[in-house]
Amino acid sequence: MKIVLVGYMGSGKTTIGKLLANKLKISFLDLDEVIEQGLEDSISNIFNGKGEIFFRKKEHEYLIDVLSKKEKLILSTGGGTPCYSGNMETMLNLADHVFYLKVSIPGLVKRLLLEKEHRPLIKNIDNGDLPEFIGKHLFERNNFYLKANHIIECDDKDPESLVAEIQELLT
Ligand code: S3P
Repeated sequence: MKIVLVGYMGSGKTTIGKLLANKLKISFLDLDEVIEQGLEDSISNIFNGKGEIFFRKKEHEYLIDVLSKKEKLILSTGGGTPCYSGNMETMLNLADHVFYLKVSIPGLVKRLLLEKEHRPLIKNIDNGDLPEFIGKHLFERNNFYLKANHIIECDDKDPESLVAEIQELLT
């Protein structure tokens, strides 16, 4: 069983993915970490040094690699993964379930204000401009996210109950 989690930065893909993998006793991979290990560099350095286009190319290659090789896994993706290089179609074809972890704009702003620094796309945005930026960005990305097999509304729910909700949809 291959399960992919998609959603905006800060939507909890990694936290939920790890918990779910624990519950299902299958392995967990974070696509950003796979890229960092493969290229032996941090996402921020890759963005700064080689640029976003290079990052998107590598993201696409590692996504296909991981989904083709592994039999069973939970994969958390980067916030932009579904929006480039036909990646959403690739995930829908190669995985059994794609879940969109949906968080409202105010919910994302609250979470991302606390963890902007290691995220190259938002780290230079003033805190006061973050709601507008996220609103516009999410509007562009939503068309991709909404192609997922399942949409999980995440606002005001704790990780344990979100994992239980996902597990329910797998039975
Ligand atoms: C990105 C999200 C990041 C990472 C990169 C680009 C994006 O992952 O892949 O900084 O385009 O939204 P997280 O969603 O895990 O922060």
